[in-house]
Amino acid sequence: MKKIIIGLCVLGVAGYNSVASAGKKHNNRLDKHLRSIIMQNNLTGNPLLNRTVPDINSPQAQLGKDLFFSKSLGGDFDSACVACHHPSLGGGDNLSLPIGVEADDPDLLAVGRSNDLALNNPEGGPPVPRNAPTTFNVVAWDQFQFHDGRVESLAKTPGVNGADGSGIRTPDSALGVADPLAGNNLVQAQARFPVTSNEEMKGFDHTAYTNQTIRELLAGRLGGYGNEADALGADRLAIWLEKFQTALDRPDGTAEEIITEQNVSMVIAEYERSQAFVNTPWKKYIEGHKHAISTNAKRGAILFYSTKAVGGADCASCHQGDFFTDESFHNMAMPQIGPGKGDGIDGSKDFGRARETGLDADKFAFRTPSLINVEVTGPWSHAGAYTSLTAVVKHHLNPAQAIESYDASLLAQGDIRNLDKMTENTTEALDAESFFAQGEAPVLLNDMQVGFIVEFLQALTDPCTQDRACLSPWIPEVDEQNIDQLNARNREGDLL
Ligand code: HEC
Ligand code: HEC
Repeated sequence: MKKIIIGLCVLGVAGYNSVASAGKKHNNRLDKHLRSIIMQNNLTGNPLLNRTVPDINSPQAQLGKDLFFSKSLGGDFDSACVACHHPSLGGGDNLSLPIGVEADDPDLLAVGRSNDLALNNPEGGPPVPRNAPTTFNVVAWDQFQFHDGRVESLAKTPGVNGADGSGIRTPDSALGVADPLAGNNLVQAQARFPVTSNEEMKGFDHTAYTNQTIRELLAGRLGGYGNEADALGADRLAIWLEKFQTALDRPDGTAEEIITEQNVSMVIAEYERSQAFVNTPWKKYIEGHKHAISTNAKRGAILFYSTKAVGGADCASCHQGDFFTDESFHNMAMPQIGPGKGDGIDGSKDFGRARETGLDADKFAFRTPSLINVEVTGPWSHAGAYTSLTAVVKHHLNPAQAIESYDASLLAQGDIRNLDKMTENTTEALDAESFFAQGEAPVLLNDMQVGFIVEFLQALTDPCTQDRACLSPWIPEVDEQNIDQLNARNREGDLL
């Protein structure tokens, strides 16, 4: 009897060993396959290689942080950049569609943030038509800012649309023409626009101001000169002046000299460009740590990079390179929810890139998003229509089916406008010159394979983005006395 038991035990161990070694062999095969994919694609895992990233502890980035959190840049003192781009919320707001001005509680971010712009928006609901992209790693974009690329580097596309090969085009200049006030880089050029949007920051008390005069008014408000010279009070003005003097190393600079709209956007951009979060398990894996990602994530990576001809999903044809984007525009027929950009007969559509170029081929096309930290930047797609990674990946595989079975009840915001027009608007995109209409057959992957891809996407998250202590250099201490500062809380009242 004893013998038999011992015999069984030995067999059991032997059996376990052979399963383990088969697993190890399988893993070795996956590693080998991935190694060749990594070589072929010239991947380093680091999208910020050879880029200058400002230090968050530099005086300019620190001043930029204060401005990013300041309600004084909201025309009516009730919105700030951080209302839609909080580091604790993946550099976004966790909402499908953002809410800027006239929030019922301006300090309450994410789900539960509400406003009632009844006067200007009779149907209620969030009035901003597109999802807030993350500010994380904005330093890695070379060509475009915004979903439709309306801030763009002309240096990268000389000759295109008459570009002369230098400068940055913005909504303040015509297509292909450099905006002389765009500033040093794409991020600064972008940072000059949220303050000009009524719904995002400007509010409705200053509608007579132009893009440039509102920027100058706000700089004057912080500097204590111009039309709102007295808005902040002497104490606050002294604090801002000292901060600007330190950050710009101009100890004797006067407010009028150094608190300018150009310097405001410049230091905000330094803060945003310091938000580099690229230390992902995938990077570790590429650097040689074989156990940095799971076996399923490895399977997902292989599907992600392999072409359809060999049963892959060919995701990397668009989400390419270490930043996972071709910085180009594609019509993926993502569900069009929300108010739309005013396009189409009833204004409920968003023509995307075509709004800028006027080209039919660009209709409904949006910039390929980066996938670094994608796990923490939901909801996903240009209008935030998807609330799970699985759903947005599945959309890519079979958009017609995804649109047909689209479930708006999964949205955390219940008051989104034009949901009734979603199918009609999105089907028009699908029938336009979409990626799919160009003869691209849907990819047939089973649910298990989709799960592998999602696990791979989850391996693209820098753990710092989910760690409040690690993020703390990017978030000011709460200061209840500081009337400028948006002290962000969630609906449970917890500080973000
Ligand atoms: C009401 C919400 C809201 C506020 C407030 C807001 N943003 Fe945004 N932000 C958005 C939305 C929505 C977009 C995308 C708009 C589009 O593509 O048409 C965006 C785009 C961006 C982008 C482009 C990122 C990319 O990948 O192209 C950056 C950077 C950014 N915002 C920074 C800022 C800064 C700086 C401020 C303050 C000066 C600010 N935002 C205020 C909602 C907001
Ligand atoms: C033809 C180019 C193309 C291919 C191929 C492609 N994507 Fe995309 N992807 C895009 C574009 C463009 C968007 C944004 C579309 C929009 O919002 O309207 C996007 C959006 C996404 C998003 C949402 C990101 C966010 O921040 O909202 C994820 C996740 C994603 N893609 C993953 C994948 C995966 C996984 C594959 C392979 C199964 C894939 N993509 C294949 C172009 C592509």
